[in-house]
Amino acid sequence: MMKIAVIGTGYVGLVSGAGLSDFGNTVICADIDLDKINLLKKGKIPIYEPGLNEIVQRNVKAGRLFFSGEVNKSIEEADVIFIAVGTPEGDNGTSDLSAIYKVARAIGENLNGYKVICTKSTVPIGTGKKIIEKIKNNSKSEIEFDYISNPEFLREGSAVKDFLWPDRVIIGASNQKAIDMMKNVYRPLYINETPIIETTIQTAELIKYASNAFLAVKISYINEIANICDEIGADVHIVSKAMGIDGRISPKFLHPGPGFGGSCFPKDTKALISTAELLGTGLKVVRGAIEANQNQKERMVKKLMDLMNNDVSGKKIALLGLAFKAQTDDVRESPAINMIDYLLKNNAIVNAYDPESNANMKKIFNNLNVFDSWEDAVKEADCVAIMTEWNEFRGLDLAKLKDLVKSPVILDSRNILSNEDLESHGFKYDNVGRK
Ligand SMILES: NC(=O)c1ccc[n+]([C@@H]2O[C@H](COP(=O)([O-])OP(=O)(O)OC[C@H]3O[C@@H](n4cnc5c(N)ncnc54)[C@H](O)[C@@H]3O)[C@@H](O)[C@H]2O)c1
Repeated sequence: MMKIAVIGTGYVGLVSGAGLSDFGNTVICADIDLDKINLLKKGKIPIYEPGLNEIVQRNVKAGRLFFSGEVNKSIEEADVIFIAVGTPEGDNGTSDLSAIYKVARAIGENLNGYKVICTKSTVPIGTGKKIIEKIKNNSKSEIEFDYISNPEFLREGSAVKDFLWPDRVIIGASNQKAIDMMKNVYRPLYINETPIIETTIQTAELIKYASNAFLAVKISYINEIANICDEIGADVHIVSKAMGIDGRISPKFLHPGPGFGGSCFPKDTKALISTAELLGTGLKVVRGAIEANQNQKERMVKKLMDLMNNDVSGKKIALLGLAFKAQTDDVRESPAINMIDYLLKNNAIVNAYDPESNANMKKIFNNLNVFDSWEDAVKEADCVAIMTEWNEFRGLDLAKLKDLVKSPVILDSRNILSNEDLESHGFKYDNVGRK
């Protein structure tokens, strides 16, 4: 099997590194964040991701998975290098590719034999070409290498499963030798007959953006349909169920909520628009989805303000859930951020509980009060808002909740509670398209 270096040990790099070692490869996960590497070396997982601890421990024990703060040395020792560093939003919606190019330079400087360089990070169309140039310009001699675009589709919250059993693997390459190396890296997936799409580098880069932007559009679409339901008194769950039965539509990503967040959809939709602008083609559908998403986040704030008769000053608002979705500790672009920001600016006292992301949200809002249980967070609250669909909140004991709060008022931005139960317990409530 292959000797692999994964550069960047974040949500994608760590899961990919662990998954690739589970496929039988020897993997070094390298990162410049030495705190993270030291934690991993001590057997601690720096993020919350179901099943990740088990797969990491298993492969460390088997002698296939290692962690290192020495990026250059990791590059030297590997046959295949995966780039998995962050590509956050840069200026005017473009991607900030500084970490990608830094790694490309390091690869060039430390190229000591034939290697396959493979980008897992989401990078705009045309970036592959620039990475190749950077590697060439920084390598001392004419050492051969090949480049592959291998975008990652894992979802936080089910990342381990998604990596080990993907719907498809995209291999964008210009050379058969490199594709054959990938066949070795992903051998178990080839054996399992996972759909593997071999294409050009640019097509592979576009597939990732086209997929994410499509899902973002789908979410914004059902959110806007939910808003129509709000106005006419229809139930969006019945609408989406009936839509989803149609095989052409599918039931996935038809769940209305407070707007999409996370580290991918918000930045990837903007980056695709930037690319379309550069190319002179339009992308009005995606632009609409972004605008609808911003409206949706603001609509949640308005719903809460309506429940509070437009007065939150000095009032205690309890937020249940802070992560951008359940089963992750990631709060990047979470709809809860919009809500907290508005409430704090309007002098509310914001108490919150999330099973995994209290600490991450506290880094953004120092004056947010976080608690270790929902029961503590809701004590004496004037209003409760469910912001993340954790299972723990689905089965909320409404009688207990009513006893703990000051006023039985609740905004269910994830539609996880039953209207009948809320009514029978005497709650004043709102949700997304189900009134
Ligand atoms: N998070 C997801 O669900 C997801 C899914 C698919 C694709 N992606 C894409 O994967 C990429 C990584 O995303 P992420 O969520 O894992 O990011 P992240 O911020 O969690 O991790 C990035 C890691 O890269 C490290 N890093 C930065 N510069 C480095 C350098 N020069 N050398 C070594 N390490 C360096 C950082 O310290 C950090 O640990 C992004 O392009 C993202 O769009 C993310």
